Amino acid sequence: MSGSPPTTPARRSGGAAASSGGGASYRTPIGTHDLAPPESGRWVALLGAFIGAAERAGFGYLQTPIFEDIDVFARIGEGTDVVGKEMYEFADRSDRRLALRPEGTASVCRAFAQHRPTTPWKVWYQGPFFRYEAPQAGRYRQFHQIGAETLGTDDADADAEIIALAAGFFDAIGLQRVPLLINSMGDGDTRAAYADALSAYLRQHADDIDPQDCDKIDRHPLRVLDSKRRATAVVAADAPRITDFLSGESGAHFERVREGLTALGIDYEVEPKLVRGLDYYTRTTFEFRAASLDAAQDTICGGGRYNGLVEALGGPPTPGIGFALGIERLLLACDAEGVFDVPAQRAEVWVIDTAGGAEARDLTHQLRSIGVRADRAFDDRSIRAQMRAADRSGAEIALIVGTDEIDAGTVTVRPLRRSDGGSVDVPQQTVPRSELLGTLRALFDTLNAPAPASGDSSNPA
Ligand code: HAM
Repeated sequence: MSGSPPTTPARRSGGAAASSGGGASYRTPIGTHDLAPPESGRWVALLGAFIGAAERAGFGYLQTPIFEDIDVFARIGEGTDVVGKEMYEFADRSDRRLALRPEGTASVCRAFAQHRPTTPWKVWYQGPFFRYEAPQAGRYRQFHQIGAETLGTDDADADAEIIALAAGFFDAIGLQRVPLLINSMGDGDTRAAYADALSAYLRQHADDIDPQDCDKIDRHPLRVLDSKRRATAVVAADAPRITDFLSGESGAHFERVREGLTALGIDYEVEPKLVRGLDYYTRTTFEFRAASLDAAQDTICGGGRYNGLVEALGGPPTPGIGFALGIERLLLACDAEGVFDVPAQRAEVWVIDTAGGAEARDLTHQLRSIGVRADRAFDDRSIRAQMRAADRSGAEIALIVGTDEIDAGTVTVRPLRRSDGGSVDVPQQTVPRSELLGTLRALFDTLNAPAPASGDSSNPA
């Protein structure tokens, strides 16, 4: 199954309601997807892995609304595609101008300005974000990010720490082909001086630049560097480099970030054209790009410093650094590398009740309350149908209760497979109710033990 759009019926969705027979049937809007089991189990596991890494590094969870006053997002840059072309804007019933969040950093800075927490404020977040883009693999209108931000320090070691958090996470989920590119945008003055030099250079080469990029030369020269269009990319390759415009202070900051990455064993490449698509960046910028994905959508994680953003949102001058990674794209990269598969979601024990279902109801409840993953079939199905369901569930043990067992106060315990999925050669036994838990514990130990060398440990799943 592909990493992001789940292969549920929703995958065939096209957007508008389609009429069928007597009533209308509705589909997910274009560029959005349902997330259903078993694929959703992968998202839960992914979040779990990130939470572990973030908490070990001292980041707490922050949740902000998915819509905000539209002006919160204006600071991302009026000239950026994200704000200028892709934002979902609306007026509520009281005519407040709001927008669905296109990214998380502006909201985090708004929250900081509003609550004024003690610094450094280290937070992580996750959830849906919205951009009106042309949907394609790895690009959606509702997509999901995990992000982390450190506010209140300009220490270059915080930059190295946040990059290490992302790198360590990719490592933990087994992703390997995700090179890190870094750059420095310098301070406010650097950016302005560089923009002047860049637009002068681009004007000189305007005839060679793709016509669709020409209108950006004067208004947003840095955006020209982002262009994936071939002719533009050729001109951009020889453009002045922002790293040549860094002040002594910004240069030293960048040097310290690089030193930190080297000390932490994180490989990187300096890419002076890495200016990112959002206007708030100062000093460090970085991206992890998946070598396994198509170049148009290969950035799985982007981030950088934004030392002026909190102040622009009405807070005190507060430096900040962070990143966001796109979950869908990350999972596409996992698929391409064949890592971080959908985890098996199976029961450990399946209760088969041929005497009306009350025993299954009570036993599953009892087992769950002591931490066993237990399940059952409903609707008083035949024993054959219940056995088939037990088998499909992947459970290691079936508990069978019929009228004979009820009369005798016993349960039949039937081993189905080893914990690793291998076949098992342990006979079923009928035990008194009072001995059930002890029997289950001993049986789990047997089924969990390493497979005998000659045994069959093949995984039928
Ligand atoms: P961004 O580069 O706009 O940065 O987005 C971060 C990541 O979100 C991208 O690298 C990509 O993986 C994913 N993404 C973005 N748009 C889409 C889309 N339409 N469909 C699927 N995935 C998408 C930010 O959002 C900044 N807030 C990052 C940051 C945090 N900078 C500092 N702190």
